[in-house]
Amino acid sequence: MARSAHITAVKGFRDVLPDESARWHVLEVEALDVFSIYGFEEIRLPIAEKTELFARSIGESTDIVEKEMYTFTDRGDTSITLRPEATASVVRAAIEHKLISADNERRLFYRGPMFRRERPQKGRFRQFYQIGAEVLGRDDALVDAEVLVLLRDLLARVGASGTTIELNSLGDESCRPAYRERLLAFAEERRDGLCENCRQRLTRNPLRVLDCKEEGCRRIMDGAPLLIDHLCEACESHFASVRALLDAAAVSVTINPRIVRGLDYYCRTAFEITATGLGSQNAIGGGGRYDNLVAHLGGPAVGGVGFALGVERLGMVMAQSAQTRQSTVFVAPLTDDARSVGLCLATRLRGRGKSVELAAGGRSLKALMRHANRSGAHLVLIIGADELSARRATVRDMRQQTDHPLSIDLDSSGQDLVEQLSRLGGAAA
Ligand code: HAM
Repeated sequence: MARSAHITAVKGFRDVLPDESARWHVLEVEALDVFSIYGFEEIRLPIAEKTELFARSIGESTDIVEKEMYTFTDRGDTSITLRPEATASVVRAAIEHKLISADNERRLFYRGPMFRRERPQKGRFRQFYQIGAEVLGRDDALVDAEVLVLLRDLLARVGASGTTIELNSLGDESCRPAYRERLLAFAEERRDGLCENCRQRLTRNPLRVLDCKEEGCRRIMDGAPLLIDHLCEACESHFASVRALLDAAAVSVTINPRIVRGLDYYCRTAFEITATGLGSQNAIGGGGRYDNLVAHLGGPAVGGVGFALGVERLGMVMAQSAQTRQSTVFVAPLTDDARSVGLCLATRLRGRGKSVELAAGGRSLKALMRHANRSGAHLVLIIGADELSARRATVRDMRQQTDHPLSIDLDSSGQDLVEQLSRLGGAAA
């Protein structure tokens, strides 16, 4: 048969190779522990939802809904979208399963892939992973502060370096519309200097002009009115409480009045976690409060606040502490007959919790030892023809470069093997 061209992954969809996934594992273990300490339970959500869910929650005029969703019609003529984020799904599920009511708070976390058809670049993918958490049922500033304390703790645990929590308030229905008009008037007067994208944003989503990355727009918007200077009394007091509580908990944050977020459901608290050294895609996480979302999706009128971390980006700034698991024992059968003995030995040792690498045959002793060396194993069990007839194996201590006999009783439970190996290899076994 002719050799075929190999098939590559879809653009923006990537493989997470063992070195990277080992780091993700550290992150997941730490996150699970922190979430449990803070009283969060895991929710596993479907990867696809009805398109309407995202249109209604994230907002029709956001970049995500307008341009970035993977949407298709299934055979039953339902419009389905691969989730671009999970907050909408959490709220949908909480309403559907009656997890929340006016006097019942719920803390949920999730992890998994999200899909956005953005232009791929460093730190930006079309399939990417998030770990996120939502507290549903409370509009108290205490919860906003607590969520940020949790984030600070989690980032410290995984050794994320160079990170900053940037905080803003986006106001609510009583102060944002008037501010929007004020901002629009300011930007309309300077329309000609704005980029094409921002000119479009003026009609659809003028707040987004504030966080345009174009140098020209930045310069123009430098003097623009800011929402935190035009908050209503209730939003002002909420924002002041969040800051005071964070101060009391010694969480350092930077107030950034230009944070607007790319999703429409936010009100009041909004934040982003940025990290140095990542280039333009420097947000490793984001979140905020969404007090109208639950009711807007048909649930009770209760508030919510949460965040999501981008796992790829966080992985890039985490301390390189993740160790790939190394086998401690390498089993090397040298003959065909020795293979079944090798398999039995490996199974017995694994049954006792030992990490074992079993070498498949067809290679010389020299080749096998080279492989054993690469595997990082401290002890190698060599089973050749001589060993087989004497019902033993030769154990090579790779660090001392010494050989020792090991008697094999294939009827035993394996404990005697572990004990013999422990005597030979000390802690290594
Ligand atoms: P978001 O800011 O859209 O918020 O996404 C959160 C994080 O996901 C970003 O800070 C970034 O690290 C990562 N991320 C987003 N898009 C990409 C991409 N194309 N490639 C790689 N990483 C990406 C949300 O998704 C909200 N649901 C967060 C939230 C939860 N708000 C309240 N609760």
